[in-house]
Amino acid sequence: MEAKLNQALPDHVGLNGAGDRVRILDQSRLPGREIYLELSRLEELKEAIAALRVRGAPAIGIYAGYALYVLARQLGDETGEERLARLEDWGAQLNSTRPTAVNLSWAVRRMLDTAQSAAHLPRAEFLQRLLEECTAIHREDAEMCRAIAQYGFSLVKDGDGVLTHCNAGPLATSQYGTALGPILLGQERGIRLRVFADETRPLLQGARLTAWELHRAGVDVTLICDNMAGMVMKNGWVQACFVGCDRVAANGDTANKIGTSSVAVLAKHYGVPFYVLGPTSTIDLSCPDGDHIPIEERSGEELRTQWYKEPMAPEGIKFFNPAFDVTDHSLITAIVTERGICRPPFRESIGKLFLSGADHDD
Ligand code: MRU
Repeated sequence: MEAKLNQALPDHVGLNGAGDRVRILDQSRLPGREIYLELSRLEELKEAIAALRVRGAPAIGIYAGYALYVLARQLGDETGEERLARLEDWGAQLNSTRPTAVNLSWAVRRMLDTAQSAAHLPRAEFLQRLLEECTAIHREDAEMCRAIAQYGFSLVKDGDGVLTHCNAGPLATSQYGTALGPILLGQERGIRLRVFADETRPLLQGARLTAWELHRAGVDVTLICDNMAGMVMKNGWVQACFVGCDRVAANGDTANKIGTSSVAVLAKHYGVPFYVLGPTSTIDLSCPDGDHIPIEERSGEELRTQWYKEPMAPEGIKFFNPAFDVTDHSLITAIVTERGICRPPFRESIGKLFLSGADHDD
């Protein structure tokens, strides 16, 4: 069945055959068009993140690793110091494209640390070390997603309904995804979950990506508008909410796609467990709480004109278009990572993950 999932979704982020360009499936064109892009210039590499051609916190991190490798290949006979300065600059420019998902700066930092330790090596060896690091970031993400899927799977049973918001599936990671991991794993094992996918205004990641991925994998998925989640919960159709995350603060406050915190409030009201699923690379221990998480704001045109033939709001209207919100830790039942399931109080349970580095549950 894994082959079926892989077949359903070929590698959507990686290197081209020659290894000199980053190859991505352009997610901004899904589900209508499956178009692969090959990118190598800094400006186009940045644009792909900003325009959400590649998106989802872990996938942006994987992509940034490959992007820095591709850019490094364009270096000539610079000194070690010059190489580092160029890479630092490129890393800062990639980081500046989207501020909320910590995986981007996390992956850039890993690549820069590798560059620093290899800067003195001949060019070919320097590039080889960078290649090994970006492929390790990719491989480790796949391993983390598989482990998250297994932990998450322990929280549901055959026939359960699950509500999800935005897209935290294979497209947002390497494979399996985070929030969609337990569902896809269940599908492999013959355990059927019924998924309600919020369409996720304004960029419709739920409708365009989650519904597309799950439908292709044969999962029972029902698309709803964001404002229908309360009714679905009230009707008793979902036994859990599974969402991804872009940055988890040390106290468990979690930034994820705008609208996630409203789902969490509804879930609390209707007594539905609300689970956040993400790799430890999305936890930012340097960030004490949600007030310190930078929130990306995007163009108001996404509300007014995108997806519509005619503008859906008057010309010149004021906009507020934050791409993410912060769900207060008090609304979260548990945070599922590749190292185990953290429950409140989160400051302690999250801290333990990093102290031991070992697997634990509860
Ligand atoms: O703006 P996006 O589409 O990049 O937002 C993505 C999300 O909010 C996801 O839920 C999050 O990155 C987790 S992906 C495993």
